[in-house]
Amino acid sequence: MLFHAKSLEANYAKQVDKELRASHAGETGAVWIYRGAIVAEFVSSLFYITTTNNDIKRFTREHLKTERQHLAIFENEMPLFRGSFILPLWIAAGFITGFLPRLFGQNWFFYTIYRVEQFVDAHYDSQCKTLSALPIPPRNIIARFKHCQEEEQHHRDEALSLMTHPPSLVMRLWGIAVEKGSSAAVAVAKRI
Ligand SMILES: [Fe+2]
Ligand SMILES: [Fe+2]
Repeated sequence: MLFHAKSLEANYAKQVDKELRASHAGETGAVWIYRGAIVAEFVSSLFYITTTNNDIKRFTREHLKTERQHLAIFENEMPLFRGSFILPLWIAAGFITGFLPRLFGQNWFFYTIYRVEQFVDAHYDSQCKTLSALPIPPRNIIARFKHCQEEEQHHRDEALSLMTHPPSLVMRLWGIAVEKGSSAAVAVAKRI
């Protein structure tokens, strides 16, 4: 009986650890999306590739700030968890996800953010359901996940509202790739 209780406890800790690691990796990637976008903005300005309006500048800086706050929640307010061993990979993936679309222009960038945040919203939702179903739901973690989720929903809607025309077929295909990539990243980050 004691053994059974111990293995249940270990399972519980493992489950919570996995969810924290996956979202910590995600929020790290999110911070680097905006850093990638800022670098692309600089590169664009050097070569006059795309015009930069105030909307996109404000959006990028405000979102970078919020994503840094999300990351700080995971690093300072959550119970201890093992971070992903391949964090540099999530940083690189985030950077590219922000850098490339931002180089292609405003609609590419906003559409990418829309697709990323759509995925993140659904992911936080499923995580909250998973954690709520545990024998003793970790209320503090769930509350923080929900707080981040609400802000991601706002990011998603704001990105969509700033698009000036509907996504092209190529953009939609890129959106699917971003979504599939994010989903694969979550599966990998839960393990390593
Ligand atoms: Fe976030
Ligand atoms: Fe966000």
